[in-house]
Amino acid sequence: MIQSNSVLQNLTDGLMTITINRQEKLNALNNEVLSEIEKIIDLVNNHSEIRGAIITGAGDKAFVAGADISEFLNAPNDQGIELSKKGQAIFLKIEQSKKPIIAAVNGYALGGGCELALSCHFRIASEQAKFGQPEINLGIIPGYGGTQRLPRLIGKGRAMEMMMTGELINAEDAYRVGLVNTICKPEELLHTAEVKMRTILSKPKFALEQLIKSTNASDGEQKIGYQTEANAFGECFSSDEKTEGVTAFLEKRKPNFK
Ligand code: COA
Repeated sequence: MIQSNSVLQNLTDGLMTITINRQEKLNALNNEVLSEIEKIIDLVNNHSEIRGAIITGAGDKAFVAGADISEFLNAPNDQGIELSKKGQAIFLKIEQSKKPIIAAVNGYALGGGCELALSCHFRIASEQAKFGQPEINLGIIPGYGGTQRLPRLIGKGRAMEMMMTGELINAEDAYRVGLVNTICKPEELLHTAEVKMRTILSKPKFALEQLIKSTNASDGEQKIGYQTEANAFGECFSSDEKTEGVTAFLEKRKPNFK
């Protein structure tokens, strides 16, 4: 088992619960957390005793409030494309996992947090969850697959609206548009996800694996879309808009875009 404080693991009867644990930063995905997630997903896929996973966030405020914006400030301008490709690759591993992975969304799922939830096979949310792709307010765009998965899941028009306005939607609206399958009381969230996962884990393993592979294939060939997203994220990353957006967030003020 991998030991990490920033991403906790609990394995019970073949079900791995993965908890992103940076509560003081609303579980934002810094480099360390992203790498830990990747290691744990590899473990889930390679360890015969693990049959499925639930991803959730520590505390009652956030699932994951996005990529860690403070890491964006000093990152070299030309690193945007690599950052995007790294996140895309990890989230693709989740989507293509041989074993079922459910997101249990307990609070803010914003930016990279919404994209993390989108990469899971499906999503269950607490009534307190909020979803959004607010990257536009930072002068950037979703770079971990959001521009590809969100329109496929909720339709292009709704996805465009969320990404263009950066506005958040609540759990009820997320349910209405099909972003989440079920909403429940916050205290029932993990139990609800576990019950659903136990139903899935009672099904034959090989057939489940083939089901995930086939259903993912319904998305068709996606390489160009992801490449376009990574290139576009890279372009934004070296823009003055990104410098102003990120600086404004960290200085806790409104950005002043020209
Ligand atoms: N990256 C880095 N730090 C983050 C973060 C992120 N994505 N989201 C929140 N934090 C940090 C805040 O800077 C703050 O740190 P501090 O206490 O050292 O100042 C701490 O987490 C708590 O957040 P705060 O903004 O004070 O909480 P809030 O309740 O006022 O607002 C949000 C909550 C989610 C609305 C707000 O934190 C937010 O807009 N976060 C960024 C969302 C975003 O743009 N995500 C996409 C990133 S690509």
